[in-house]
Amino acid sequence: MKIRPVASVRATLPFALALLGLAGFGPSPAADTPAKAAAKPPAAESVTRGQYLVETGGCGDCHTPLKIGKNGPEPDMARLLSGHPQSLKMPPAPKLPTGPWLVVVAATNTAWAGPWGVSFTANLTPDVETGLGRWSAKQFADTMRTGKHLGVGREILPPMPIPAYTHFNDADLEAIFAYLQSIPVVKNQVPPPLPPAGAAPPTK
Ligand code: HEC
Repeated sequence: MKIRPVASVRATLPFALALLGLAGFGPSPAADTPAKAAAKPPAAESVTRGQYLVETGGCGDCHTPLKIGKNGPEPDMARLLSGHPQSLKMPPAPKLPTGPWLVVVAATNTAWAGPWGVSFTANLTPDVETGLGRWSAKQFADTMRTGKHLGVGREILPPMPIPAYTHFNDADLEAIFAYLQSIPVVKNQVPPPLPPAGAAPPTK
């Protein structure tokens, strides 16, 4: 008969006790025992899947500012998904010539000027004051589905690719939100958008 290695028996014991509802009476399990890990697999899976969707969905292209590295512009990972840096005050956007050029973008890829005015990419980190820290998963899903702030507020401006992202299903959006809530907090107050030059002030 094959002898089971001691480590595997030790690893199984707290799990078995937990299953029997006896964990409180057994040896107190360390933080990384299988019993503890087994209690939360869906959340961890969800975060991993969310990270995959955020990376393939290109969220960082616009929401993580670029900085100049050794080989040219690269995402500033210390500011992962924290939106347009509050310290970068943008001068007025240059006037575009007549013709097919339509959009101007900051070197950080986080401020965009076009026919809609100027938009600044949002802070998606879990900071409670300047990011999504106070958002619920439902508010996030409603925003992504309707293209409106929290599902009820103002229209989210270009170039946020809302039409593409409405194809995410409920589980995708839940996973994306779980991942966004797991990344490091960055306190960064993104400025509100500016109306197009010469536009009439908003009527409501
Ligand atoms: C091409 C650039 C671009 C990409 C790619 C992009 N965004 Fe955005 N996003 C923006 C801009 C610009 C805004 C701000 C628009 C505004 O102020 O109206 C924004 C706003 C948002 C908001 C709204 C915040 C609020 O307060 O209402 C959320 C949420 C968001 N993005 C999430 C994401 C996620 C998640 C992804 C990837 C799946 C993503 N974005 C990819 C440009 C982008």
